[in-house]
Amino acid sequence: MRVLVTGGAGFIGSTTAEMLLDLGHDVVALDNLVRGRRDNVPGRATFVEGDYGDVRLIRSLGAFDACLHFGARIEPAESMTYPETFFANNVAQSLAMLEALIATGTEKVVFSSSCAVYGNQVLMPIDESRATGPASPYGQSKLMVEQSLSWMAARGRLRYASLRYFNAAGGTLAHPEQHSPEIHLIPLAMDAAMGRREVLSIFGTDYPTIDGTCVRDYIHVTDLADAHVRAIEALDKHSELTVNLGTGTGSSILQVIDSVQRVTGRQVPVRAAERRPGDPAEAVASNILAREILGWAPQKSLLDNIVADAWVAHQTI
Ligand SMILES: NC(=O)c1ccc[n+]([C@@H]2O[C@H](COP(=O)([O-])OP(=O)(O)OC[C@H]3O[C@@H](n4cnc5c(N)ncnc54)[C@H](O)[C@@H]3O)[C@@H](O)[C@H]2O)c1
Repeated sequence: MRVLVTGGAGFIGSTTAEMLLDLGHDVVALDNLVRGRRDNVPGRATFVEGDYGDVRLIRSLGAFDACLHFGARIEPAESMTYPETFFANNVAQSLAMLEALIATGTEKVVFSSSCAVYGNQVLMPIDESRATGPASPYGQSKLMVEQSLSWMAARGRLRYASLRYFNAAGGTLAHPEQHSPEIHLIPLAMDAAMGRREVLSIFGTDYPTIDGTCVRDYIHVTDLADAHVRAIEALDKHSELTVNLGTGTGSSILQVIDSVQRVTGRQVPVRAAERRPGDPAEAVASNILAREILGWAPQKSLLDNIVADAWVAHQTI
């Protein structure tokens, strides 16, 4: 297959591109490097630097068997301050790209959606039938693209899978988790354990959870990558899919910190901080649909395994 991977210089896009290449597919990795790193793009991929919303650029690349659309601005807290940036980049540019992809004859799109489309939910785990209600412009931007894709599929213009990831984590030696700015718990905790940052802030310690800290469902990035390969295949049979990707098990921030301390044998200095706007108390996925439709199950996503892989990969940064 010839596959377009937007956000191919980012964490999940580069890992998935590597898996596709290992499986013998051709990959064109597109990224404007606003957040990604050029050296993260697999050497075997063709790299194109630019915006995925650049219609002329997308048309010039010709038809693909599938587009995996990872590219996005991903910081929910920043989206609370600059919603316009997130709607322009994540929605307007995505819609321009989809129009260009349709025009060039690309039929399959796998979209990186997020548990952020669910917003604040009380009952866990969350399945795909739950009413959406994003609590941030970031989550809203993901939902708006999902809804647009749904109309395009309903009118026979394309086939798509919306994969609602919960918390991507872990990493591989070639593609460690590294965001700029870093906003994710595990790399931040490791930096604190290594003395690269003074202290790890815990945003909110009075949530109605097991220990007062936020609970999230951490999923290994290679399990996510595997689900994308399966989603491309599933689109032979389905024209429209919306599927959660998570483990079904939640871990609190304190439990993750415990795991980091256990795996690394180092202390993580912490301090309690105010809650951040837009952070739900809990987000844990039901993955029954992913198991049924994609034949997928997490293989590497036990918390200590995620942290162990992340720790090895983190040494290379
Ligand atoms: N990391 C997570 O836990 C998580 C959870 C749920 C959903 N997601 C989604 O998964 C996708 C990938 O996330 P990630 O963690 O790899 O993030 P990332 O920031 O590492 O990767 C995103 C990439 O998109 C690129 N990009 C942004 N806007 C672009 C544009 N207009 N044109 C071209 N390239 C552009 C960035 O430079 C970056 O390399 C995102 O869509 C994100 O919303 C991530």
